[in-house]
Amino acid sequence: MYYIGIDLGTSAVKTLLMDGGGKVLRIVSREYPIEFPHPGWSQQRPQDWRDAAFACIPELIEGFDRTLVAGIGVGGQMHGLVVLDRDDRVVRPAILWNDGRTAKETEWLNEVVGKKNLSAWTGNIAFAGFTAPKLLWMKANEPELFAKIHKIMLPKDYVVYLLTGVHSTDVSDASGTLLFDVARRRWSEPMLEICGVSREQMPRLYESCEAVGTLKPEVARRLGLPQSVAVCAGAGDNAAAAVGTNTVGEGRCNISVGTSGTAFVSSERFRVDDNNALHAFAHADGAYHLMGCMLSAASCNKWWAENILRTSDFAAEQAGVTEDMLGRNRVFFLPYLMGERSPHNDPAARGTFIGMSMDTSRLDMTLSVLEGVAFGVRDSVEVAKTLGIPVARSKICGGGAKSPLWRSIFANVLNLELDTIASEEGPGLGAAMLAAVACGEYASVSEVASRLVRVEGTLKPDPGIAARYEERYREFRGIYPCLKELFPRIG
Ligand code: XUL
Repeated sequence: MYYIGIDLGTSAVKTLLMDGGGKVLRIVSREYPIEFPHPGWSQQRPQDWRDAAFACIPELIEGFDRTLVAGIGVGGQMHGLVVLDRDDRVVRPAILWNDGRTAKETEWLNEVVGKKNLSAWTGNIAFAGFTAPKLLWMKANEPELFAKIHKIMLPKDYVVYLLTGVHSTDVSDASGTLLFDVARRRWSEPMLEICGVSREQMPRLYESCEAVGTLKPEVARRLGLPQSVAVCAGAGDNAAAAVGTNTVGEGRCNISVGTSGTAFVSSERFRVDDNNALHAFAHADGAYHLMGCMLSAASCNKWWAENILRTSDFAAEQAGVTEDMLGRNRVFFLPYLMGERSPHNDPAARGTFIGMSMDTSRLDMTLSVLEGVAFGVRDSVEVAKTLGIPVARSKICGGGAKSPLWRSIFANVLNLELDTIASEEGPGLGAAMLAAVACGEYASVSEVASRLVRVEGTLKPDPGIAARYEERYREFRGIYPCLKELFPRIG
């Protein structure tokens, strides 16, 4: 049988067709715009997701026996607030995971409601990109639109709704709303009350590999698929990528270098770090995970190359970097172009170059951008280590991980062995694998992941380079505390 995986990303939707043995037969993607109406705000039109996803699928299955398509799984950008009215029309553009407009609401939740209560109810504290502070922002700033809300959902759930007509979400994505009691896998009544929403306004909860329904007849016709195709609840993109890289079970790590950068550690039991620096979320395999998320990762390199250097040839830009330059760069880059989530929780933080002198070259600055992102991911891995999780190796995936130079910087900055996977399509592949479980082709998420995911290569850190980066990382850590008070004043 065939399975379709949809990865509803921030810059594009990527769809893939997988056969029952895990072979990726075709990939089709479409980009869509992102609006930044104010510095630090970011939003997208759910209608653009619909148009892009629906345009990809007929092209994806063209020439294949469509009667063999059994299931669809959707993974997607997390935390985005999608609100529908009584007639299921989109009320306003979706406020995305990397939007920092909710600084006030986030502070109110953490300081007045209190981190202790939030953590007890949800396993997490408030971060600006989470869904609950966005609801509070809407209530305060757009009361007439807030009053129209009939259903609240997350980005990928909107696509599942369009496919099936069912308002659903899955436990991994629900975890990022701050409206969900992660340990008990149910909506948190105190949090719903604080945000002024009812349980009826929330989508129905599913485990990620559960089928929520089949295709609506008119959608099946439009996409050229049988109506019997089952659509599973899917997962947040990081949990889906973890399935697609076999990061399931106890203590496995996956680093994703996409628009965001994440360090994801799977855990068989629910656990939280003392400061809630890492997100404690439900995993798509029925268990849990811890995750640190930096808001700008591959997007820093894209911004630097495309917006500033005016080139789209990233490889050519990095070509001059030689091994002896690694760990010796005197220029540092703080990758906080959209503020930062983990570990600083500071929407006012901004990108910064520091340490330039008259002999600084364009290449030093390009390298500092790649290094700054790797240092940012290391910040989260360090927190995981304080929990006693012995992270000794990790998988790496995402667009940024396609650069051999960047992969090597990650291995040396993190001083970790990094496994690359034969198919790099983390979230899309994971979503298709969840659909294969929903359709009964595999008995469980851990079975599908262990049978289908193949490690293709392992990158080992070089002891000399890693030692140099150890020192550079210590310097990097000292920069943000010096600038923290300044950022809100210059923003
Ligand atoms: C995770 C997060 C990001 C988005 C990006 O908490 O906010 O990784 O899911 O798509």
